[in-house]
Amino acid sequence: MNILIKNIKELVQVEEQPKLMVSGAAMSEIQTIKDAYLLISDGLIAKFGKMDDLDTEDILDVEIKVIDAMGKMVFPSFCDSHTHLVYPASREIEYVDKINGLSYEEIAKRGGGILNSAKAMQQISEDELVESALERLNEIVRYGTGAVEIKSGYGLTTETELKMLRAIKRLKTISPVTIRSTFLGAHAIPAQYKSDQAEYVDLIINEMIPVVASAELADYIDVFCDRGFFSVEDTDRILNAGMKYGLRPKIHANELDFSGGIQVGVKYNALSVDHLEYTGDDEIEALLGSATMPTILPGAAFFLNMPYAPARKMIDAGLPVAMASDFNPGSSPSGNMQLILSMASILYRLTPEEGINATTINTAYAMGVSGEMGSICVGKKANVFITKPIPTYQFMPYYYGANKVETAILNGEIQ
Ligand code: NIG
Ligand code: FE
Repeated sequence: MNILIKNIKELVQVEEQPKLMVSGAAMSEIQTIKDAYLLISDGLIAKFGKMDDLDTEDILDVEIKVIDAMGKMVFPSFCDSHTHLVYPASREIEYVDKINGLSYEEIAKRGGGILNSAKAMQQISEDELVESALERLNEIVRYGTGAVEIKSGYGLTTETELKMLRAIKRLKTISPVTIRSTFLGAHAIPAQYKSDQAEYVDLIINEMIPVVASAELADYIDVFCDRGFFSVEDTDRILNAGMKYGLRPKIHANELDFSGGIQVGVKYNALSVDHLEYTGDDEIEALLGSATMPTILPGAAFFLNMPYAPARKMIDAGLPVAMASDFNPGSSPSGNMQLILSMASILYRLTPEEGINATTINTAYAMGVSGEMGSICVGKKANVFITKPIPTYQFMPYYYGANKVETAILNGEIQ
C-alpha cells in the first residue's frame, strides 16, 4: 500500500543529496521542511516537499492511505548500531551489587557479568532466544528504532555462538526492523581459558571464524579490546583472521582504559569503534581521516557511572560522532534511542541537531546501512516515525524519558 502523510508540522532530517555520514561542524546542521508532505510507495520514500507543492496527480491512487499529521512531526527512524539484544536473562542482581559499590570489572572477576550471561546462554533454546529478542525488538520499534545491529558474544563456545547467530539470522526474516549481525566471540575469556588466553584466541581464529563465515552468519566481527579482556595483540590476530573472510570490524574499545583499541580498529579499517570513554589526543589523531565511525554509548556510561567520552572535543576536532544504545542486560538495559538522544544533549553537550545526526545518519553509517536509511531521502527505505503533537524538534531531546513516538512505519508499513 502507498501512504501519504500530509500536513506534517515539520519533516526532519531531509536530504536532497544523500551523504553517508556527517562530521565536525556539519553535524550542527539538519535540513527540515515545515508544513510538509511525505509520499511512501512500495516501501520506499517516493517524494516529499511543502504541502503547497503537493501534486494531486500523486494522490489519485485509490489504494493510498492518507495520514493527517497536523501538529506532529516526522523523523527518519533511529538506527541503533550497537546492541546485544539477544540475551538469555536479565541481570538485575549485579545491578544491586553495583549500587552496593562493586565495579563492572570486579563483578566480571567474580564470574558475574558477561560470563553470567554465557552460563545461562548454554541452557536456553534457540526458539526461546528468538521469542524473547522479538519482544525487545517490538519494544524498540515503539520508541522509533528502524535498524539495529545485534552481536553474539554470550556464547563463548563455537556451538553456542552459532546458536546466537542463528537466532539473529531468524530475527532478520521475521522482524520488520533492518538487522545487521556481528560475531563477538572475543567478548570475554571463558573461565577454563583463564590461564591460557591465547588458546581461546586460537579457538576463535581456527574454529569459530571459519564456520561463522562459511555459514554466512555474520556481517561484522567485534572484539572487546580493553583492560582485563582482550589485548591489542589478541585483537590484531583476530581482526587479521576475520579480514581473510571479508568480515569488517566493529570494535569495543577504550571503555576501561587507553587500551589501544581505537588505533587497532583504525588499522583494520573498522566500520566503527565503540564506547570511547578513554579518548585522548592520540586517539583523535588516529581517527581523523579514517573511515571508522567513533561511536559513543551513553547508556552504558550512565548506567555504570563511568566517565563520559569527550564527544564535544571529538566533534570540535572535526570527527563524526555516532551514538547508540548498547542495549544489553549488564551495562545498558535499555534500547530507547529517544533517551540516547536526550543523553547526547544532557550528558555530552551535543546540540539537538548534532544529537539527531549522531543517532540517525551516523549510526546508519556505523552499521553499514547509510545508503538506505538514516535520513528522509528519495529512494531510501520508508523507515520513519510520526511523533505525538510536539512544539519543536528540539522538544525531542528536551522532554526526556517520555515516548514521543506515536506511529512507527517500517518498510512502508504501519506497525
Ligand atoms: O558493550 N563492554 C562490553 N560488553 C558489553 C557489556 C555486556 C554485558 O555486560 O553483558 C557492553 O557494555
Ligand atoms: Fe557492547
